[in-house]
Amino acid sequence: MTFRATILTLYPEMFPGHLTFSLAGKALERGQWSLDAVQIRDFAEDRHRTVDDTPAGGGAGMVLKPDILAKAIDSVSENDSRPRLLMSPRGKPLTQERVRELAGGDGVVIVCGRFEGVDQRVIDARNLEEVSIGDYVLSGGEPAALTLLDAVVRVLPGVMGNALSGTHESFENGLLEHPQYTRPQMFEGREIPAVLTSGNHAAIEKWRLEESRRLTLERRPDLIPGHPVTK
Ligand code: ADE
Repeated sequence: MTFRATILTLYPEMFPGHLTFSLAGKALERGQWSLDAVQIRDFAEDRHRTVDDTPAGGGAGMVLKPDILAKAIDSVSENDSRPRLLMSPRGKPLTQERVRELAGGDGVVIVCGRFEGVDQRVIDARNLEEVSIGDYVLSGGEPAALTLLDAVVRVLPGVMGNALSGTHESFENGLLEHPQYTRPQMFEGREIPAVLTSGNHAAIEKWRLEESRRLTLERRPDLIPGHPVTK
């Protein structure tokens, strides 16, 4: 089955962008997923192909018009059960859990916001799920959409070469990944931790779990259930 991604954007040339490289690029060539970038401006009907207007109530910037965006959305997803996402710093933070859910479906329709925002009525009327990739503001949703797709495509069935390599990484067990080492045994006076070359698999697993816990506590205590910062 092909996972179908449809992007609604004012900058369709930004796609597929970096997704033609590496794992995602190979999977795209093999037809394991597809990408279609649609120009929102093509749905404007006036002479100037206007897509935005000044915010009701005043203020800086421009707002994406609901009628134009609704037509664009309907043209790609009227009889379609794919989730419709809106990339926005106001959205719910993207998690590996949501990434896996999306990868288990038929695909996604992703609206890339620009300007100061999108008219709330089209968000409500078309049931757009607002998604953020982090607590910082990009100049548009396109790099966020590329990031989300990168995360989704790599967990599609059959995309990751070594299937096991997805199970030990950050977030898959709720913790950050433990440190990794490879040869040479000695690098600028620093040795590989002895336990990793001991051949004792139980001891190695124990060390890795401890390191994961230590790093998570230090860097991301918010990931630890019941930790004071999560309350
Ligand atoms: N658009 C602008 N900033 C964004 C963010 N942090 N996440 C998703 N979309 C965005």
